[in-house]
Amino acid sequence: MSSRRYVLLGVADDGVFSRLKAEIEGLPNVEVIRGLSIGDFDGVSLAVFPTGVRYSGVPVSEVPTIVKKHLEGDKTVDQRFDGSVLPSTILPSRQKRIVLERVGVIDPESIDEYIESGGYEALKKALNEMSPADVIEEVKASGLRGRGGAGFPTGLKWEFTAKSEGKMRFVIANADESEPGTFKDRVIEEGDPHRLIEGVLIAGYAVGASQGYIFVRGEHSLAIERLKKAIADAKERSFIGENILDTGFSFDIRLVPSAGGYICGEETALIEALEGKRGQPRPKPPYPPQKGLWNQPTLVNNVETLANVPSIIMKGANWYRSFGTESSPGTKVYSVLGNTVHTGLFEAPMGITLRELVFDYGGGLKDGEFRAALVGGAAGGFIADLDTKLDFEGVKEKGGMLGSGAVLVLSDKADAIGVLLSIARFFKRESCGKCVPCRVGTQIITDIMTRVYNGNCTRKDLDVMLDIAYNMKLTSFCPLGQSVHLPVKTALEIFRADFESRCGD
Ligand SMILES: Cc1cc2nc3c(=O)[nH]c(=O)nc-3n(C[C@H](O)[C@H](O)[C@H](O)COP(=O)(O)O)c2cc1C
Repeated sequence: MSSRRYVLLGVADDGVFSRLKAEIEGLPNVEVIRGLSIGDFDGVSLAVFPTGVRYSGVPVSEVPTIVKKHLEGDKTVDQRFDGSVLPSTILPSRQKRIVLERVGVIDPESIDEYIESGGYEALKKALNEMSPADVIEEVKASGLRGRGGAGFPTGLKWEFTAKSEGKMRFVIANADESEPGTFKDRVIEEGDPHRLIEGVLIAGYAVGASQGYIFVRGEHSLAIERLKKAIADAKERSFIGENILDTGFSFDIRLVPSAGGYICGEETALIEALEGKRGQPRPKPPYPPQKGLWNQPTLVNNVETLANVPSIIMKGANWYRSFGTESSPGTKVYSVLGNTVHTGLFEAPMGITLRELVFDYGGGLKDGEFRAALVGGAAGGFIADLDTKLDFEGVKEKGGMLGSGAVLVLSDKADAIGVLLSIARFFKRESCGKCVPCRVGTQIITDIMTRVYNGNCTRKDLDVMLDIAYNMKLTSFCPLGQSVHLPVKTALEIFRADFESRCGD
């Protein structure tokens, strides 16, 4: 019997996991690992390697049958076999995987599997064959833009950091990911933690830093567990520490769980929190590349941004530019949720249309007709035009923003008013209280939306709400308060009749 591996995908179901472990106990050359949900999986899925046959919606009761049949010669258990085979044709087949290439395929807790699949080669190449300036040039040439929301050119940010004077420089991987509907960074951390670490190391080398931090959302316990192990394993293999791989480059990485709060993902609030203070934003300028952690030059990059870097260094800027669009090269990991048949993560070239994402990747609408999508998370905008190109410029042209790439799809049966109410509540809860427009504005908007939801409002309330949101955009201290305007404005543009139908004159 050849060596066989069962990879649990989808929801981390302890029942299926422990049953699998029990079923294979004592069998030679068989193992079970926890992989991850990477899109298009409903319920618990199971992939069996080396064939890669995938079962969907596996209940605990069917685990013994699947194990037995597969051990008897790769026979599929038809009622659960969904017709797809991993990893070469991970559904939908149009996905282009760069940052997710190993997610669900290798054991994320094994540094050996990462190395065997080409991991840490980019670090070796950067340290041995490239100067820090070469690395920055390559990243600049790739056109990579920050995946944390703002889309700032990554290479340029690295250059600013490298050129800033300071006693020491820092790199921070922003893994705080608290945008509602966004779960791409967590999947990278849980599914391929060494890729993030390799990206941080290359960034550290490029900007001349000696200390890195991964600031991770505290609730992401599996990510924390795996990152901790990955950092320890990388230290043992001399990828982190003094004189890395005998190249003279020394760099340490510390994992810091966030105390919680959406605002702690904002880069300057994050830095305050790292310094042990209350997480509230600082005035900008100075920007972190000039004065960041302990007032030293600091590079803050999103997890997905950094996870792109090893591939860019290995395969080159031109290769990277062969995906995506001229101004937004590469791929984007979209978190798709809401009323589509398939929900989850889809990595696709930048610039696919909303129509492609909803119908080709998401499998179309589960129930009803397409009405609109909230693109860019809670701080994003509702977009009704299915021909919108999903890249930084395309979404902006339609009055929205790509943000973190979360796409909440709403059918004509969805409750758009309920969605906007929960967005309002989210901002009210997460407002850090530092500035009045945001602290008070989010409260008023939530009060109005509660009345709209309960059918206890006037049409004038809608105009007041829009006016307050607009003033928050103009006067709030940081983008948290400033961004409330976009979902409110676009919701009223698209769903005004629904809102008005609940209001009196
Ligand atoms: C309220 C708020 C929350 C944010 N949360 C995150 C986050 O969780 N992760 C992230 O990478 N960026 C977040 N950002 C953006 C960061 O401030 C920063 O722009 C980003 O980490 C820079 O990385 P990038 O250039 O790689 O995108 C947030 C911004 C705001 C205003």
